[in-house]
Amino acid sequence: MLAPRHVLIISLAATALLMLYAVSLFLGFSRHVQRVEVVVGVGEVFLPLPRKLTQFSVEEAVLYRRSIRDYLDEPISIEKLSMILWAAQGISETRWGLRTAPSAGATYPLEVYVVVGTGGVALSDGAYLGAGVYKYVVHRHSIKLVSEGDRRVELARAALGQEWVEKAPVVVVVCAVYERTTARYGERGYRYVHIEVGHAAQNIYLMATALGLGTVAVGAFYDDEVARVVGVGVGERPLYIMPLGVPRHPYVTSFEEVGDYYLARR
Ligand SMILES: Cc1cc2nc3c(=O)[nH]c(=O)nc-3n(C[C@H](O)[C@H](O)[C@H](O)COP(=O)(O)O)c2cc1C
Repeated sequence: MLAPRHVLIISLAATALLMLYAVSLFLGFSRHVQRVEVVVGVGEVFLPLPRKLTQFSVEEAVLYRRSIRDYLDEPISIEKLSMILWAAQGISETRWGLRTAPSAGATYPLEVYVVVGTGGVALSDGAYLGAGVYKYVVHRHSIKLVSEGDRRVELARAALGQEWVEKAPVVVVVCAVYERTTARYGERGYRYVHIEVGHAAQNIYLMATALGLGTVAVGAFYDDEVARVVGVGVGERPLYIMPLGVPRHPYVTSFEEVGDYYLARR
């Protein structure tokens, strides 16, 4: 039997431990909450940390993915932009810094830019991200301002006048530094880079679909013109333009419809 004095000491110690645990949980939680907020530094915007935003399954994202070229005149939220960029080239393995899209020998040749239109990205406090071109910083999950101003009209002109590039509130441009991959794989590295941009683009398509956004992979453009408008870094070549917005007409189908298609052909 424990003496009442010992019972008191044990329960006091247990209470103290519980309180310590609660405080540490709170500190950890509040640190997380702080880091979720968008912090705009000098030319660098720390994006909300990636998190599970929807209940969408991969099956549904694959089913509902469609190239969408007509968008509502509405911004997309910074949270959704954060998820799109994370899907394209974010970190999903923290020991080596491996990314959401696979890469030949983890050489990671891709660089991602975002062309933000005026009022194109809504911040949580009712304000908008400044129009401009931003570059995604993979290991900080942030975007860095490359140049100010709305460059969508110029970008659309460089993309043979495809108006969805001009009308989308936000346009992602995926570029590649071929040398990172060809230095290891020689000529074959070119093939690998082209395969890789497809992986990143598909991630963008599927994440956009899950978030209720629409996009289209645009490959028809004048490379040098796009590189100039975006202001790409040394050795970077643009490979894909992906406008993003809220679809005017969301694509509707069902597994039943697809099933009927197959059954009618068996
Ligand atoms: C390599 C590639 C280049 C493409 N280039 C363009 C383009 O310049 N403009 C465009 O509107 N769509 C472009 N697309 C989208 C295709 O037109 C679209 O994927 C196709 O019509 C099938 O429709 P879905 O994506 O809805 O399945 C491109 C797709 C790929 C894979």
